Amino acid sequence: MPHLIAPSVLACDFGRINEQISLINRSEADWFHIDIMDGMFVPNISFGPAITKAIHKVAEKPLDVHLMIEQPDRYVKDYVDAGAHLISVHVEACPHLHRSVQHIKSFGIKAGVAINPHTPVEMIFDVLEELDLVCLMSVNPGFGGQKFIYNTLHKIKRLKEEITIRNLNTLIEIDGGVGLQNAEKILQAGADVLVAGSSVYKTDDPLDAVKRLKSIEKNTLLS
Ligand code: DX5
Ligand code: ZN
Repeated sequence: MPHLIAPSVLACDFGRINEQISLINRSEADWFHIDIMDGMFVPNISFGPAITKAIHKVAEKPLDVHLMIEQPDRYVKDYVDAGAHLISVHVEACPHLHRSVQHIKSFGIKAGVAINPHTPVEMIFDVLEELDLVCLMSVNPGFGGQKFIYNTLHKIKRLKEEITIRNLNTLIEIDGGVGLQNAEKILQAGADVLVAGSSVYKTDDPLDAVKRLKSIEKNTLLS
């Protein structure tokens, strides 16, 4: 399967949000990545369901909603109603992760789990069969524009191995510090979805940035 590109709306100019969503509608991007932060689970606040709904009205690609919030079960329905196609919750925020995943799936949408950089991927192995996506954080969540943590490459390989052994279709998404400088290595390691905030929206030509990220060939012989 060709890899997917999910531009992160967090990096766009919020004063021109409709225009910035429309721009990506015309690109080769596959999803919009929507970062929800509560100022508790992460030290920053972004936006909530009302803005997500407004984005959904303009967006012509599926919304991949990343909940960086405490007790996410309380808000899943709000994001389903706002138009989420997939919702990821953090393993670190869910003491009853299996239940949280079932809760997301009960709305008929796709379910993902996100993992902080210090959390071993093995933490989610007992629910792997239930997941449509695993989001490996390659920065400490809370802010766009941070530097990619290279240890993530080992985690991608470990997770990919497990997914392959079990013959699953679970997608591996990488979130944070992804750009043209490291995308090939990330894809070689086994990633399926690249979240790209700054490397798309903070460039002069976001359409071209998406095109370049999308057209990267993973040369597995080099891995
Ligand atoms: C970080 C967010 C990311 C962020 C990525 O907390 O989860 O999705 O928007 O932004 P860049 O690509 O700029 O690192
Ligand atoms: Zn994110």
